[in-house]
Amino acid sequence: MKIFIDTANISELKKAVDIGICEGCTTNPTLILKEGKDYKKTLKEICSIIKGPVSAETVSLNAEGMVKEGKEFAKIAKNIVVKVPMTQEGMKACRLLTNAGIKVNTTLVFSANQALLAAKAGTYLVSPFIGRLDDIGQTGMDLIREIKQIYTNYGIKTQILVASVRNPIHVKEAALIGADIATIPFKVYEQLFQHSLTDKGIKLFLDDWDKLQKELKK
Ligand code: E4P
Repeated sequence: MKIFIDTANISELKKAVDIGICEGCTTNPTLILKEGKDYKKTLKEICSIIKGPVSAETVSLNAEGMVKEGKEFAKIAKNIVVKVPMTQEGMKACRLLTNAGIKVNTTLVFSANQALLAAKAGTYLVSPFIGRLDDIGQTGMDLIREIKQIYTNYGIKTQILVASVRNPIHVKEAALIGADIATIPFKVYEQLFQHSLTDKGIKLFLDDWDKLQKELKK
């Protein structure tokens, strides 16, 4: 499973790239609002840092507007993937952009049928939002399982990008199901590296190393 970072924050992305585990990035208007910067300039900067797919979200409600925005985004860099919402107009735009050679990420997907339709519209990535389903008392991860089953049944090539990830358990379960990608907020990304026994183990080894140096000096 690939790991993308769900952020528009350049310093977070640089940290993940520096570690060497960051295979793409997803952005949306909320994430851009947090940074308070120009969207296109930010995308350009992100694309100069990240080699993998970088998702850029359209805000038009009609297909014509989405296609126009998508074509503008696509000029920024080769690795831009255009996000369109799962609506009838979004799927129309998905087909038009895909036919024009521009990769699409269908966002705001909350049901298996929506994921099936997005695949039929040619979407490159499908983004089921698991955290937001959990928030309303449903089990978001069940949706990933359903989409995986349907895509496997029909040999569908669309990649399942698990979005709205809130914790490390989401990441582990997405990987167990066999999702293609999880896009992860930087806070959760950092949590993935941590374990109290790792910290305890490092401390023990360092203490013992120090003890050995002292004994050798005797
Ligand atoms: C990613 O593409 C989505 O926009 C993002 O994961 C949504 O996450 P949220 O539900 O935490 O806003």
